[in-house]
Amino acid sequence: MAAPRRIRLGVSMIGMGYHLAAWRHPGASAGGNMELKHAVRVAQAAERGLLDMAFLADGVGIRFNDVPKGALSHTCKNVQFEPLTLLSALAMVTERVGLVATASTTYNEPYHVARKFASLDHISGGRAGWNVVTSATDMEAQNFGLVGAPPKAGRYDRAAEFVEVVKGLWDSWEDDAFVRDQASGLNYDPEKVHLLNHEGAHFRVAGPLNVQRTPQGRPVIVQAGASDQGRELAAATADVVYAAAQTLADARAYYDDVKGRMAKYGREPDQLKIMPGIMAVPGRTRQEAQDAYQVLQDLVQPVVGLGALANYLGDLSGHDLDGPVPEPSSRRDHSRGQIFLDMARRGNLSIRQLYLSIAGGNGHRIVIGTPADIVDAMEEWFHGGAADGFNLLPTWLPGGLEEVVEMVIPELQRRSLYRTSYEGTTLRENLGLDYPEHRAVAARRAALSRMLGSAAQ
Ligand SMILES: Cc1cc2nc3c(=O)[nH]c(=O)nc-3n(C[C@H](O)[C@H](O)[C@H](O)COP(=O)(O)O)c2cc1C
Repeated sequence: MAAPRRIRLGVSMIGMGYHLAAWRHPGASAGGNMELKHAVRVAQAAERGLLDMAFLADGVGIRFNDVPKGALSHTCKNVQFEPLTLLSALAMVTERVGLVATASTTYNEPYHVARKFASLDHISGGRAGWNVVTSATDMEAQNFGLVGAPPKAGRYDRAAEFVEVVKGLWDSWEDDAFVRDQASGLNYDPEKVHLLNHEGAHFRVAGPLNVQRTPQGRPVIVQAGASDQGRELAAATADVVYAAAQTLADARAYYDDVKGRMAKYGREPDQLKIMPGIMAVPGRTRQEAQDAYQVLQDLVQPVVGLGALANYLGDLSGHDLDGPVPEPSSRRDHSRGQIFLDMARRGNLSIRQLYLSIAGGNGHRIVIGTPADIVDAMEEWFHGGAADGFNLLPTWLPGGLEEVVEMVIPELQRRSLYRTSYEGTTLRENLGLDYPEHRAVAARRAALSRMLGSAAQ
């Protein structure tokens, strides 16, 4: 009998939480997000909640302009640990939770990425994941000798080849290549190491990788782009998609579209887990939950709210905050800007109402209520063909996550929607993803079955 389909959960552990005012929450540590003990507490709470993964969004630089002036200095979206370095430390204080780091395909070389994530997979005993991003901001470009980010089409073109090269490097060694036979002196079987010899439009990479095949076969690949090219890349290569949607209809359309693109890559739909972001704010009563959320909403300064909108819609500070959201003149080519505009139009929101609406979830779905309300909301999307799970976006850290773990997880378990213990030791096992057979082994197996097939005829 097939195992029942269960909700998968990740948590975004960026900064002091996802809400714009998270760092000002009365419970937040004054030491900020670059205290290792803060990150340890978050990762351990995720593991107590039996979460599939802790997820570190990242940029190679501060990704926000100081628009309007003063916006940046009033947020905590500025400094953070380099994700792979942090996750290596967290691997030592956790045992089961997956550890997913963001790394850019625009400002790295595939060999670097392949080697680092393979190392994290070994260090963590098979819990590493790579969130593939193309780095959309000019601010990041300016840290790498460029004036602005390369055009999106070119970035995605490079990303597609980049991921193929990384996967190829991860298959440098067959699982049993290392015999380490002290008696004969043979360290590895030379038949079981494979050069990549990749030559493409963007990369020439010989290989092999100087890290052996990893406990998960290869680290889990996460993807978060939402445009046509982002979706195509996800369908071709991702194990997990981190998505943003506000309504069931939008989430379902996205889900169907991405899963529908998989067949042409020979992939089964259940080998890709689509996990929209959700900000879940639980309380013992609805009022308690609303009150808890309002504490943060009251701490959003206009300059910070306008700054959050400016990232995607341009500077709106010359307009009446209580007037309608104008058609943006300098909108960035980014799917999130459209989500913001749709929210404003759907709710007929003023500028102030729009920034307060996105202050928590930044365009992701927000559910405030009792544990039953939150699980109802998750179940609706999970059973409604819109999600395989969710990426939790805690209002503030660690408290916002700890409350979800204490209140919402038991309700999910009570409804048999969620695990009561980890199924496996690797992230791939816990997500219910197949172990990726080494490509050379797969090719040998295919050749053998062709041979047997023709012999039988
Ligand atoms: C839910 C979500 C999370 C993202 N997280 C990151 C991130 O951590 N770092 C980053 O550089 N880009 C991140 N991105 C940006 C995407 O990788 C991509 O560059 C951007 O969304 C523009 O492409 P798109 O129009 O295909 O979405 C994220 C995008 C989405 C939708």
